[in-house]
Amino acid sequence: MTRTTASTSPRGTSTIQVRRQSFDFATTPKYYFDNNPLLSYLLTALSLTFPHGERFFVHSVRNVRDRIKDDTLQKEVSAFIGQEAMHSHAHEDFNTFVESLGIDIQPILQSEYEKIEYAKTKLSSKQQLAVTCALEHFTAIIAQYLLEHPDFHKQLNPRVAQLWMWHALEETEHKAVAFDVYQEVFADQAIRKRIMRVITTTFLSRISYLTFKLLLNDPVGRKQWRQHIAALKQLKDVFSTLAPAYLDYYQDNFHPNQHDSTQITAQWREQLFGEQIDKEVASAAIH
Ligand SMILES: [Fe+2]
Ligand SMILES: [Fe+2]
Repeated sequence: MTRTTASTSPRGTSTIQVRRQSFDFATTPKYYFDNNPLLSYLLTALSLTFPHGERFFVHSVRNVRDRIKDDTLQKEVSAFIGQEAMHSHAHEDFNTFVESLGIDIQPILQSEYEKIEYAKTKLSSKQQLAVTCALEHFTAIIAQYLLEHPDFHKQLNPRVAQLWMWHALEETEHKAVAFDVYQEVFADQAIRKRIMRVITTTFLSRISYLTFKLLLNDPVGRKQWRQHIAALKQLKDVFSTLAPAYLDYYQDNFHPNQHDSTQITAQWREQLFGEQIDKEVASAAIH
């Protein structure tokens, strides 16, 4: 992951676009990630948390929207809300495909919904936004990893890759929005870092739990030990690559744009959507 010394987003420019996408997951295989059950269930676990989770992100930003004075940031918030809304719908479609495989996803979705509703009643608007910033940091560093590692995403079934690479691109595009809102409205670095410690534990334990729950409920997939070992080795490499970027969040002057994604997002905009104009805008924004 490339780092720059930039500490703020380029205010006065907004290159975030909302793209309506539709996906067809018919004929997608059950083990859509390199024919590997564990890796497939890991992405499925993430997808199951996305629709309610991303609505919560939007909710936490909307909570404080009337306190944002920067006009460009207001525009970015609109784009952030639009992108997250599209992601929620797309992952609902993906989750419907998962359900069509005979996997009982409703108790998991209900549990996600209840946890989030509980958080809304117990946490202040500052804490809720700090939760969103923490989870957006996780999504941003994972998304940038996906964009930068063709060997990783080429293992995905092409239909599934289309969903995840679009989502990865847009997570990278809007990675600073919730963070910039938090800094403008609260700028409380102690709470931001404290919430990240809590979210690290809860997010990683929840995704691990869901992944292994899905795997253990699959009598065929759970016996594929050789595949599990290969998956764990691959995940160990991913985690060790991402650890420094994760830890950057604990710096007092951290900003998501310190992880430079200008070139990689321009490349993927062109590759996925032929949006060459964005490359020029992005380039102009950093010169
Ligand atoms: Fe998203
Ligand atoms: Fe996001």
